[in-house]
Amino acid sequence: LSVQQAVQKTLEEHLERKEVFGSKILMDNLISAWGGEKLPALEPPSLVEDFSVQSPLLDNVLLLKRNMHLRDRQQTWQESSEGKEMLAFREKLPAYKERDSFLLAVKRHQVLVVSGETGCGKTTQLPQYILESEIQAGQGGSCNIICTQPRRISAISVAERVAVERGEQLGESVGYKVRLEGMRGMSTRLLFCTTGILLRKLMADPDLKGVSHVIVDEIHERGMNEDFLLVVLKDLLVRRKDLRVVLMSATLNAKLFSSFFDGAPLLHISGFTYPVNIHFLEDVLELTGYRFGEFDQVDDYGQEKAWKMQKMMQRSKRNPLVALAEDAIANADLRKYSGETQLSLSQWNPECFGFNLIEAVLCYICKSEREGAILVFMTGWEDINALKDCLMRNPLLGNPSKVKLLPCHGSMASADQKLIFEPVPAKIRKIVLATNLAETSITINDIVFVLDCGKAKETSYDALNNTPCLTPTWISKASARQRRGRAGRVQPGECYHLYPKAVFEALTEYQEPELLRTPLHSLCLQIKSLKLGNIGDFLAKAMQTPDPLSVRNSVQLLKTIGALDDEEELTNLGIHLANLPVDPRIGKMLIFGAIFSCLDPVLSIAAGLTVRDPFVLPVEKKEVAEAAKHRFGRNDFSDHIALVRAYDRWKETMDAGTAVDYCWKNFLSFSTMQVIHSLRRQFEMLLRQAGFVDPVPEYTNQYSKDVNLLKGIICAGMFPGISSAWTMDSNTKYKTVEDGAVLLHQSSVISKIERMPYPWVAFYEKIKSGNILLRDGTAISDSMLLLFGGKLYKSERAGHLHMQEGLLQFTLHIPFAEVILWLRRELDNIVSQK
Ligand code: CDP
Ligand code: MG
Repeated sequence: LSVQQAVQKTLEEHLERKEVFGSKILMDNLISAWGGEKLPALEPPSLVEDFSVQSPLLDNVLLLKRNMHLRDRQQTWQESSEGKEMLAFREKLPAYKERDSFLLAVKRHQVLVVSGETGCGKTTQLPQYILESEIQAGQGGSCNIICTQPRRISAISVAERVAVERGEQLGESVGYKVRLEGMRGMSTRLLFCTTGILLRKLMADPDLKGVSHVIVDEIHERGMNEDFLLVVLKDLLVRRKDLRVVLMSATLNAKLFSSFFDGAPLLHISGFTYPVNIHFLEDVLELTGYRFGEFDQVDDYGQEKAWKMQKMMQRSKRNPLVALAEDAIANADLRKYSGETQLSLSQWNPECFGFNLIEAVLCYICKSEREGAILVFMTGWEDINALKDCLMRNPLLGNPSKVKLLPCHGSMASADQKLIFEPVPAKIRKIVLATNLAETSITINDIVFVLDCGKAKETSYDALNNTPCLTPTWISKASARQRRGRAGRVQPGECYHLYPKAVFEALTEYQEPELLRTPLHSLCLQIKSLKLGNIGDFLAKAMQTPDPLSVRNSVQLLKTIGALDDEEELTNLGIHLANLPVDPRIGKMLIFGAIFSCLDPVLSIAAGLTVRDPFVLPVEKKEVAEAAKHRFGRNDFSDHIALVRAYDRWKETMDAGTAVDYCWKNFLSFSTMQVIHSLRRQFEMLLRQAGFVDPVPEYTNQYSKDVNLLKGIICAGMFPGISSAWTMDSNTKYKTVEDGAVLLHQSSVISKIERMPYPWVAFYEKIKSGNILLRDGTAISDSMLLLFGGKLYKSERAGHLHMQEGLLQFTLHIPFAEVILWLRRELDNIVSQK
């Protein structure tokens, strides 16, 4: 049997048994989806984020009329009694003192860096000053001011605030635009948008025609999008001499940005804050008289913590919290990092007791402290939800006539977000549970008490902001001080850091830029779709250059999944992936799901991978919980399909009103399920926008019940995350090309299966903790891998086809790579003959 004949035979057999595809149509679709060659090459018009930038050729009369209208409105408002009151408020803000020097500097210099304490009026005032002065100067009709925010919630809330300050409705002179949502009109001259939106705008219009001012806010956070935008703007300023750029930063590393823009001038707004008393964990324990056990509830969330604490107490006579911190510091991995000492405090984990301690501190403040709202800094929405559930059970904190509990995180609906800013009736204590969103980008006026758990995490569920899942990490000293400062805005305040002073001392001065700590896949795609040239060369121009190895890895991955070709140019698939604000691998899986009319389950999987595993495994009930998950995924040998089944069932129970009970019995996190539910909708909307979803509903999910096809699509999305599986002496072992032997995480349903009947496992994530663990997996057959596995690539290290060596041997003992190459040619022939 020659290689060709053997493959042909296998393929025919597979086709006959319809193991992988249901029909010929699917076959055609498969080919077009493969490298994207048959995908439409042009970006669908709906994807271009349009700004209401008028044509530069607009006639002068119209511009003049427009400005007159704006000026009249502005004047009428400022002369009204409400307007005067608002003006008086605005004039009290520290920013007002710098108004004239700010406007002068913007006129004189192309780039200006402004720093100032949070709350001094940068975000709400400075863009407004520009707008007002342009209107006064008769340029109101033609100016076009764009102010970027790192997050959706701040873009929306700031726009709302500025509209109120101008006595207008949103969408008149002030508007906002975030992904999939916006409010702006023909007369909108000041637009608040997320940084991602501006980057998208740049894709369609690299010169930002018609834009007069770009204001980049919160640059001190060193977010990836912001750092990226700065490099793009730096290039653009050479071409657009008339463009003005203002960079706004909260803390004091403003010099860094000034020197990046060749010594751009700095303007500092000095503000006034009240003194804040600082309490570290040691004081907090004493103040609150916190004893372990007092507040501990036995629920699914608290249980693991309670268990850990008990163990700790048995080991140590010391106060367990302090002991834990001290141990962590003693064992800490001290590294020298660019001159600063960095400390990884992996074992010291405030979340492991956080809820009970937070509960104790909140009770203490409510009972014994003066009036004033409380702001609690948590790591992410899951913690916020879980903490809220936990506090609701407390007789004092859960009593709505005494306490108003308000969560605050990026994924909330706009209406809920507004509640945070509203004052509460006297005698009711407002408690805001927030992510680090409340650190700099939004200001809640009545805060007097701050609780700081010391860790932060980017909001991982928010696919629209394209932030990958991150684990909670320690904040920097700068952030800790910033959090502290939130307590002293209206009167002297109190800040409770829920970690020992020694931990604070060990924190780094500033946080590492996101560019240096996250995977660069999406960024690389953006560089390409903005036509910024060679990825490595471009990134070398950034303020701090990412590790070339991680750049190479990202480029390699993009080539492997077929988003970039060998010349590092975007393929058709790549163009589409650049437009989907999700990880490219997940994006590819979503596109495949849509193309193969198997969308519904793929939406669940993509949402689950973006959020986190909804299966909770409490330590003491681990076996029961694992058995529950196993039931969902056993028949399909797949963690991903387990999630699909769990979600489908959840949806049914939601309709029947029994979802809470269902989650409890099956060890599923209800709040995670809710987020998955809403993410699914967002993903579907994105795919629809991009024109991938068939408008005929029956067709969208025609093959959704075909498990083999679904597994193929999972494989397409996971690739090159593939491990081989083979069974020896009734024991299955796993191995990947890069790592050699790997293990399956014990929470994976596949790890419970003794003899694996499939030769491969597709996985999304691997973690290193001693061994290399695959966190999730789906067992797949040869043909699924063969047909959906994506492009092969040359390994730089080995210099030959990556998949060839030993590991990925096709069952027919043919070097796998050759098979695929041959097969691709054959398939192409079939198509071209048609
Ligand atoms: O950007 P920066 O942190 O410097 O301050 P800002 O967000 O412009 O806020 C300036 C002031 O406006 C704050 O101190 C608040 O008193 C007020 N503000 C408000 O009342 N309501 C909002 N939604 C936003 C700000
Ligand atoms: Mg601000």
